[in-house]
Amino acid sequence: MVESVADSVSDVSIGDAVYALTSFCRDGAAAEYVAVHAADLAPKPKTIDHMQAAAVPLSALTVWQAFFDYAQLAPGQRVLIHGAAGGVGSFAVQIARWHGAYVVGTASAENRDFLLRLGANEVIDYRHVPFEQAVREVDVVLDTIGGETRERSWQALKPTGILVSLPGPIPESEGPAHGKRGVFFIVQPNREQLGKIAALIDSGAIRPVIAETIPLAKARQAFERGVAGHTRGKLVLAVDKP
Ligand SMILES: NC(=O)c1ccc[n+]([C@@H]2O[C@H](COP(=O)([O-])OP(=O)(O)OC[C@H]3O[C@@H](n4cnc5c(N)ncnc54)[C@H](OP(=O)(O)O)[C@@H]3O)[C@@H](O)[C@H]2O)c1
Repeated sequence: MVESVADSVSDVSIGDAVYALTSFCRDGAAAEYVAVHAADLAPKPKTIDHMQAAAVPLSALTVWQAFFDYAQLAPGQRVLIHGAAGGVGSFAVQIARWHGAYVVGTASAENRDFLLRLGANEVIDYRHVPFEQAVREVDVVLDTIGGETRERSWQALKPTGILVSLPGPIPESEGPAHGKRGVFFIVQPNREQLGKIAALIDSGAIRPVIAETIPLAKARQAFERGVAGHTRGKLVLAVDKP
């Protein structure tokens, strides 16, 4: 909710229900108030509350930019999503399916039924099955895990495919050694894309998956839990208005 605006701002008003990707490298958003560039704010999806909306921008924008700005994902293509049950992955499964892709996700066995319900066509239990033997010839790999998961992913990719890795830069020689393309990027705020994502949420095509809502006072525990790397969907910090 917008509490105040600078004099130069004309397209956002006090009281507007908005959501945004805030500058997570500088200030983050674990606070009662946060300063945001007005140009980064988009109207909040109407069919979800603020707590649910808070779970959307970082993960859904990352997926949108990975699939459409970098991978040029086309309907009918095959996508492999690592960490499919996580914050980014749970949006990736839904957005890829909405776009008409064939979706293969990796997750532990406990998340299999959850991911099939979310829209995955196949789920590979990464703890028991070497995914690179179970899936081949994918057009896009969305890697939210990195390390040896990324290294093994080249084998699953078509020669014309692309590997988008999110945890960190891909070593320069890795893609060329396999004769394939890879990219790492850092998600950027984008009002227009948030508008499209809000429309998808309001149409019922996608939804945020919330593992737990945790009070701001317990933010440390929330971050520690997130770092453990087995959250289903997103952890949300609940802020009481002072
Ligand atoms: N570059 C960017 O702009 C950008 C933007 C957003 C996020 N990121 C990065 O993307 C990564 C993922 O973020 P996130 O928020 O989605 O993480 P997350 O929610 O913490 O991911 C947790 C999920 O990972 C799964 N998982 C753990 N190990 C796995 C493995 N070896 N294979 C397959 N799945 C595995 C877990 O499933 P199980 O419980 O079933 O094991 C869990 O559901 C982070 O490194 C984050 O920093 C980068």
